[in-house]
Amino acid sequence: MGQDPELLEEICAWVRGATKLPVWAKMTPNITHITDPARASLASGCDGISAINTILSVMGVNLETLRPEPTVEGYSLPGGYSGKAVRPIALRMVMELAGMMHGEQGAFPDRSISAIGGVESGDDAAQFILLGASTVQVCTGVMIHGYGHVKTMCDQLEAFMGKHGFETIEAFRGHALQYFSSHADLVERQRQAREQKKQAREIGKDAQWECDRFVEQSDMLVSNK
Ligand SMILES: Cc1cc2nc3c(=O)[nH]c(=O)nc-3n(C[C@H](O)[C@H](O)[C@H](O)COP(=O)(O)O)c2cc1C
Repeated sequence: MGQDPELLEEICAWVRGATKLPVWAKMTPNITHITDPARASLASGCDGISAINTILSVMGVNLETLRPEPTVEGYSLPGGYSGKAVRPIALRMVMELAGMMHGEQGAFPDRSISAIGGVESGDDAAQFILLGASTVQVCTGVMIHGYGHVKTMCDQLEAFMGKHGFETIEAFRGHALQYFSSHADLVERQRQAREQKKQAREIGKDAQWECDRFVEQSDMLVSNK
């Protein structure tokens, strides 16, 4: 169902109409463009998006039995991958959702994102918030470390905020999004930076040496920075 935006829009509208409680539609990552089902859910009135669910995977193939793992009575099926291994994929998907919802052309600036996928520390939570999430959820992390770990994560998040002088989540939510760009832009930025460094290295005349920058200028002549 999560891979079919039309169906999702219809079912989310039913849920939305059946309760006054806030509704977050939870997205599957097993789709090329996670923004398509998210857009459909939000169009039907959902208050926000939570993402991601587990990633379909095959854990391995046993080289003795020659069967996929894990097995039940010798047989298997693709299962849900979770925990820190999925965090980079979850971060990317939350970034894409934030762009679609809250970006310059964002279609749903007033709806929120609850990020899930490999959150095991306050620093992990901070990364998702920097990419636009308002809240995070933890599943595998708590299964591994126990409920007591939530307090540790809160302390770690507070320490991160204290270090940067952030008093609220809103003070840094989405801050990192502005640094995503395109391949073409990165290539152009690198070209310009190289050009500037090349020009800085080209000290042809004695008069170009500056007293205050003598060490920096000599360093440029001998290094490949
Ligand atoms: C054992 C297990 C059971 C899960 N059951 C559900 C479920 O019933 N419904 C659901 O939406 N997600 C379920 N999930 C997905 C998690 O809620 C979460 O989206 C996913 O595991 C990624 O987060 P994590 O890395 O913190 O585990 C389950 C995950 C695990 C590991």
